[in-house]
Amino acid sequence: MGQLIVVGAQWGDEGKGKIVDLLTDFSDAVVRYQGGANAGHTLVVDKKKVVLHMIPSGILHNNVVCMIANGVVIDPELLIEEIDMLVGSGINVSKDNLKISNAAHVILPYHKLLDSYREEKRSKKIGTTQRGIGPAYEDKITRRGIRFQDFLDKTRFDQLLQQNLEYYNFLFENYFKKEALNFNTLVEKFDYYRERLSSFHENTSWLLHQYLSKGRKVLFEGAQGTLLDIDHGTYPYVTSSNTTTGGALTGTGIGPHKNISVLGICKAYTTRVGEGPFPTELNDDLGVKLRTEGAEFGSTTGRARRVGWLDIVALKYAIRINSITSIALTKLDILSALDEIKICTSYSYNGEKLNYFPNDSSILSKVECEYQSCSGWNSPIGDVKIFHDLPESAIRYIELLETLLEVPIDIVSLGPDRDKTIVRNHPFHS
Ligand code: IMP
Repeated sequence: MGQLIVVGAQWGDEGKGKIVDLLTDFSDAVVRYQGGANAGHTLVVDKKKVVLHMIPSGILHNNVVCMIANGVVIDPELLIEEIDMLVGSGINVSKDNLKISNAAHVILPYHKLLDSYREEKRSKKIGTTQRGIGPAYEDKITRRGIRFQDFLDKTRFDQLLQQNLEYYNFLFENYFKKEALNFNTLVEKFDYYRERLSSFHENTSWLLHQYLSKGRKVLFEGAQGTLLDIDHGTYPYVTSSNTTTGGALTGTGIGPHKNISVLGICKAYTTRVGEGPFPTELNDDLGVKLRTEGAEFGSTTGRARRVGWLDIVALKYAIRINSITSIALTKLDILSALDEIKICTSYSYNGEKLNYFPNDSSILSKVECEYQSCSGWNSPIGDVKIFHDLPESAIRYIELLETLLEVPIDIVSLGPDRDKTIVRNHPFHS
């Protein structure tokens, strides 16, 4: 396959960063297509932890071009911090390996403030990352947004900023009873950001087409997960972008090419950060144990993640919405600590079995889960290199998931390091 879209099959934090990093060895370009600095991809390279929020993890590889495409919302301040962190660690970041779409929208300080003022005021909180994601996409949709190309043109940027500040300062002072932002302070900051970032600009859709027409391998790197998709997720407890396969197309400017496959990344259990329904959530000691064993704390906000059993109903939904062709199952090693492992195989609501994943969060919060129980393997598996060397009950668990999900599990991840991975079938070669 020439192109591979990577999507989160759950509520994010499935371990996409590690898998993308691994597959990057076989890619000519890696393209981030949605979200912004709300994402946090933790990678372990040479035993060193690296957290990337906006730059595709392909940046750690030589000869790979990384693109931040039009669907992403860019926070210039955090992007500069990320570039400086990478350069400080000896990693090359230049206009030759990092390309930022002219059409991507820019996050401004008023977006971040609005995000936090809104959360403060809401009686039913969403639990956003407060990185300004929702307000930035809101400006994009309402055509008030400032794109990367506008930001690069000082005259255009200053004019748009002035116009937008009139609106935001009115809102801040009169509705939220907060301080107004100062135009000159922002202009000064953004003059500096422009100086630092202007060399990275590119028409990434055009560049991507050059790659595709030459048959080069492109990896599309998603952020968050299917159930956080603005259209298909557990609305309103979602992020503000399309985190699903459709988002990879509009977010980069390509169509549904014949030779695209879709790799869904899925943890061997489920986690969720922030508010919203979570049918298989474990609110007991077992949940605490899984959270501790799996180090389930947000890489962007540090928040403790909610933890629960694997949910086949939700996964089948993710497979359908994304046209997932195969799965990478991550963190299987974390289940080694358990005697018994459960999988939710169906939901019922008001005593009746549901045949599908409901798109109404109030129903989803009331469904009852039916579980199938599997025996654990009670032994560490982190060092296993070959699938058939896994304990028998771990193999049975994986094969049961394949039967239930009706898609192959091509990759099994057994730890954060690159070498703790079993590749049964290479997604780029199938
Ligand atoms: P926002 O994306 O900051 O607007 O947050 C909306 C919801 O998405 C919140 O519940 C966040 O916790 C969640 N969210 C956003 N980004 C991520 C992520 O990368 N992993 C997991 N959850 C996320």
